[in-house]
Amino acid sequence: MRRDLLSYTLLFTTPVTGFYRQGASLVCDGVPLAPIAAGHGTPLYVYSAATIAARYRAIDEAFAAYPHSIHYALKANSTLAIARLLRGLGSSADANSGGEIDVALRAGFTPSQIVFTGVGKTPAELTHAIALGIKAINVESSGEIQRIEAIASARGARVTIALRINPDIDARTHAHISTGLKTNKFGIPFERVKAIARDARHLASVQIVGLHNHIGSQITDLRPLTDAARALAQLARELRDEGTPIEHLDLGGGLGVSYDGSPVPSAQDYASALLPAVRDSGFAIVLEPGRQIMAPAGILLTRVVDVKPQDERKSFVVMDAGMTELIRPMLYNAFHRIEPVVERDQPALAADVVGPLCESSDTLGKDRTLRNPQPGDLYAIMDAGAYGSVMASNYNRRLLPAEVLVDEGAARLIRRRQTLDDLLALEV
Ligand SMILES: Cc1ncc(COP(=O)(O)O)c(C=O)c1O
Repeated sequence: MRRDLLSYTLLFTTPVTGFYRQGASLVCDGVPLAPIAAGHGTPLYVYSAATIAARYRAIDEAFAAYPHSIHYALKANSTLAIARLLRGLGSSADANSGGEIDVALRAGFTPSQIVFTGVGKTPAELTHAIALGIKAINVESSGEIQRIEAIASARGARVTIALRINPDIDARTHAHISTGLKTNKFGIPFERVKAIARDARHLASVQIVGLHNHIGSQITDLRPLTDAARALAQLARELRDEGTPIEHLDLGGGLGVSYDGSPVPSAQDYASALLPAVRDSGFAIVLEPGRQIMAPAGILLTRVVDVKPQDERKSFVVMDAGMTELIRPMLYNAFHRIEPVVERDQPALAADVVGPLCESSDTLGKDRTLRNPQPGDLYAIMDAGAYGSVMASNYNRRLLPAEVLVDEGAARLIRRRQTLDDLLALEV
């Protein structure tokens, strides 16, 4: 096909998805955001179903040539409708607590589609996972293996586990979301794995079927992911040769997204970085993406409450959303673009965009330029679909925000706003 004809065809056959402008207005999958905010109030999370589907499929297609399963990391966003949507797309689930296991079940995932990761699994959580017969418990220590063995043998159950390895590899991401270094609390030190696997081979109720690692999140330099996958594959080969019946390598999540518009690796780049490291081993792989699927698929809508001078140069723009709705800027110094929902050609104002909470660190964006913001104006905090609503809190007795999913042209409420009665119902 001629190139100009090809781009013409693409223009009219590829639906535009996600958050983009139609004229001055920001829309989600073609649906304007201003009426959604007017109908449901702010702060409000809005998600694009089409973006979630496209980003899930991009990973699935990138790995299509190799045996793989995608276990969406529920910790990124586990609102039931989102979990159900991903299940419908063919995803399996990675749960990080008993609560996430139960949410996965309610979303329709079967136990055999669930892996359970977590650095401090309680006896009750382990008992629950064992009773369900989930696909694998990703274990963190020899002590945890002993606890699993004790629970399983008392129940006459047989449990399949994967050893979570700490490869001591620097993911070159923010220190708070780096998990693969010796100094991080996660996993079994690499050099101790063989001895632990040898001991576990004699256990009656526990079978090691996989190795797991997750070296961090928001990783945009693929080299550490390749190194970790290669180390895991080599170790798995050696364990298999010694008689441990390894079936899969769980390569965790971690692929980063672009919060500021700078280029980042694609799902295809990710597959090209991981597959050569594991292909010769022949082991099936498990992937646990969270952020990669969800971050760009959601925004947080918020209104300006106040504008006040800071000094001669700069102002504070106070929003009705803050660290209680989106803690990432405060927790990790994370950057999110802040966009007016309706763009106006107005004079520029230098500002720190802050939340309403009683904490100086309650900031959404430092040193931003906004166009003459006025109380009542609606703004979108972009790329807030992952680690946004799941980390929301009730600090200052603030109520959890509502959430809306835009799907096939309709905006559907998928979580109503919390009420004070919901909150106080827990108190006796
Ligand atoms: C064990 C595990 N798997 C998967 C993920 C998802 O990571 P990401 O959202 O960076 O893909 C995390 C998040 O930190 C994790 O701890």
